[in-house]
Amino acid sequence: MAVIAVTKERRAGETRVAATPETVKKLAAAGFSVTVEAGAGLSASFPDADYAAAGATVAKTAKDALAKADIVFKVRAPEADEIKALKKGALVVALLNPFQEKATVEALAKQGATAFAMEFVPRITRAQVMDALSSQANLAGYRAVIEAAEAYGRAMPMMMTAAGTVAPAKVFVMGVGVAGLQAIATARRLGAVVTATDVRPATKEQVESLGGKFIAVEDEEFQNAQTAGGYAKEMSKEYQAKQAALTSSHIAKQDIVITTALIPGRPAPRLVSAEQVASMRPGSVIVDLAVEQGGNVEGSKAGEVVETKNGVKIVGFANLPGRIAADASALYARNLVAFSELLRDKEGQLAPDYEDEILKAALVAKDGAVVHPSLKG
Ligand code: NAI
Repeated sequence: MAVIAVTKERRAGETRVAATPETVKKLAAAGFSVTVEAGAGLSASFPDADYAAAGATVAKTAKDALAKADIVFKVRAPEADEIKALKKGALVVALLNPFQEKATVEALAKQGATAFAMEFVPRITRAQVMDALSSQANLAGYRAVIEAAEAYGRAMPMMMTAAGTVAPAKVFVMGVGVAGLQAIATARRLGAVVTATDVRPATKEQVESLGGKFIAVEDEEFQNAQTAGGYAKEMSKEYQAKQAALTSSHIAKQDIVITTALIPGRPAPRLVSAEQVASMRPGSVIVDLAVEQGGNVEGSKAGEVVETKNGVKIVGFANLPGRIAADASALYARNLVAFSELLRDKEGQLAPDYEDEILKAALVAKDGAVVHPSLKG
């Protein structure tokens, strides 16, 4: 019987966990034996007793949990001491952040681990159920609106009261991928007036179908901004200048701006300048979801709420999914259950099919070497 180990996340501020009592049950039913490090789920509200009741063995330390593990599930990449504790040939599945944490991928390879980056799971229909980027971005988009509402000293919905009318908040979402779409939907549910922008033409209809108004420079470059993989290209300087000119007067009138724009493998595009921030009225709020990839907003700081001279708050919380840890863990853990089906045969024996296109795409280290084409060289 193949053994899956789940250890406590050691990264500062990481509150999520890679298995929940629900997924332990599913993994056990599939024929795996699951070991969970004591306290692994506490920060996501899953006590050890619930894991044990679901059929997991609770190990005292990470080292104990990892000693016999054939497969290791993590949220973030394992730390150096965890890597050292891995069995040779152990399979490690995590959000490895491979472009920014190449050294960890190398350390995993050196230890002889076979490592899969959940970020590299292709966005094909069959893999939707294991798409961790989407499951986490969706919750991050929701949480961004909640953080904005919390930092905003006014109301989101229009309210008609005996003492007069409260105007609805104007929310502008920049970058309409998975997180942006959920931010639009959440802000609409709270009663805000929502506008949004993106460089991919496909997003126009999506924004409108959620009741938002779409604003963008719709020139020829915009028409071709989506890659075959469905992602955005890095836009030219000329386009960026046109985009800034279009959004400047709009941003000045907004109460809340939520930015989510990313380009895979590149620093986040700068979408809001210091001058644009300064043009907003006191009490306005900006939430920069791209802060950990360099930020979309000039002046945003990872892990901080910066208040500008003119009273605008720039919320730069890192790891927004971690601020909704129970649900983020539950969805991520289900993504891993779906992924684990590619690693076993019908009897629950370890049998990864390295010819499977999903495993092939996600594989970053094997047999002592870093193997993913985008990480080599
Ligand atoms: P992402 O996290 O890479 O980027 C977020 C958004 O920022 C994207 O919509 C992107 O177009 C936008 N952006 C980039 N540069 C920008 C700029 N300069 N100005 C304004 N916006 C900018 O995107 P995410 O959420 O990972 O989605 C990427 C694509 O993948 C989308 O087309 C989405 O619909 C698709 N997708 C497909 C799935 C599937 O299973 N088929 C599942 C999830 C997403």
